[in-house]
Amino acid sequence: MRRQIIAVYFLIYSVSLSNSEICSTATWSKDAITVAGGHGYGNKLEQLDEPSGLYLDENDTIYVADRDNNRIMMWQQNTTIGQWVAGLKNNGNDTQQVRLYMPEDIVVDKNGTIYITDAGNYRVVRWNSGEDDGEVLVDHIQAVGVAQDNQGFIYISEYANGQVTKWNFNNEEFDGEIVAKNLGHTNLIFIDQDRSIYSVGLLANRILKTVEGNDEPIVIVGQYSPLDNRLDQLNRPSGVHVDKQGSIYVADKENHRIMRWLKDATNGTLIAGGNGGGSASDQLHYPSDVFLDREGNLYVTDTWNDRVQKFLIDRSSCQTN
Ligand SMILES: *[C@@H]1O[C@H](CO)[C@@H](O)[C@H](O)[C@H]1NC(C)=O
Ligand SMILES: *[C@@H]1O[C@H](CO)[C@@H](O)[C@H](O)[C@H]1NC(C)=O
Ligand SMILES: *[C@@H]1O[C@H](CO)[C@@H](O)[C@H](O)[C@H]1NC(C)=O
Ligand SMILES: *[C@@H]1O[C@H](CO)[C@@H](O)[C@H](O)[C@H]1NC(C)=O
Ligand SMILES: *[C@@H]1O[C@H](CO)[C@@H](O)[C@H](O)[C@H]1NC(C)=O
Repeated sequence: MRRQIIAVYFLIYSVSLSNSEICSTATWSKDAITVAGGHGYGNKLEQLDEPSGLYLDENDTIYVADRDNNRIMMWQQNTTIGQWVAGLKNNGNDTQQVRLYMPEDIVVDKNGTIYITDAGNYRVVRWNSGEDDGEVLVDHIQAVGVAQDNQGFIYISEYANGQVTKWNFNNEEFDGEIVAKNLGHTNLIFIDQDRSIYSVGLLANRILKTVEGNDEPIVIVGQYSPLDNRLDQLNRPSGVHVDKQGSIYVADKENHRIMRWLKDATNGTLIAGGNGGGSASDQLHYPSDVFLDREGNLYVTDTWNDRVQKFLIDRSSCQTN
């Protein structure tokens, strides 16, 4: 009896652990499965064309900025056909007033409202769930990355300005507040549970962290390194994700690989790709963004393969006694 109670307790404990904690020795499958696109480039509902930013909602529904199709697509888990959610429908009679052009990144709030960096039009667009048209929120801004914090504020990174601004778009008279600056040419961003901002320095090949309340960044990955594929280097990084333990996951675009840095580590570990640019299941071709689902599985926008890849987490090395 007592043993059973302990066993049940242990089961519940390990299930709740599995949803939040990713141990330092965890690995990911060498071969990925394709969870969106993967049918060549094109604008059919099962296709993507050079996708970029990636976002998974609380139900692990996959949203992807389908950049060269000028639209945002959604894939339910385990489906092969995507659903149009924003931008051009490409069905011959698009009537939108607000047309997306090369959307780079997205974030989706709890109501299914999508915030889009409409990069080719230098603006930020909001698209309510189920609507045919969007609304321009900010214009004349070199918007690249977009993220949301746990209080509902939206953050936008600006490419050449090298700054991040924070917005409350539910307020009638919103204005952006600069919350990070001196970032250099900036790519995508991530906001953690302490509202620290992780930004990707595209040209300086590094990841910067800006702590809330202090707008000056610190370098946490990469040190103006030359372009190479050593374990302490990045080559034109694009997207970043951070887990609850502070480990950093980076789409190391021109190295065709995904790297993971444990908190405060000087070297990363290769966790996906890194086998040259290509389309095999253990290869990536210019990956743009990374995202972890609730179980710790790794999703990657595999841009030149016009697909989103999922690498399953393997926690078998995590057990301790
Ligand atoms: C997630 O799924 C639950 C249960 O099906 C549903 O009530 C909820 O609205 C979903 N959330 C989103 C963001 O779609
Ligand atoms: C998707 O398929 C996998 C493998 O068959 C299964 O474990 C998982 O529960 C499915 N997820 C959903 C949301 O249906
Ligand atoms: C254009 O829109 C009309 C009205 O919604 C619809 O009936 C028609 O099928 C659309 N055309 C195409 C090519 O999808
Ligand atoms: C979601 O919609 C409800 C009802 O319209 C609104 O009160 C709430 O503020 C919205 N939440 C977000 C995150 O926008
Ligand atoms: C970090 O990586 C570099 C280059 O691959 C290597 O020379 C160095 O020994 C590594 N350092 C540690 C602490 O593993």
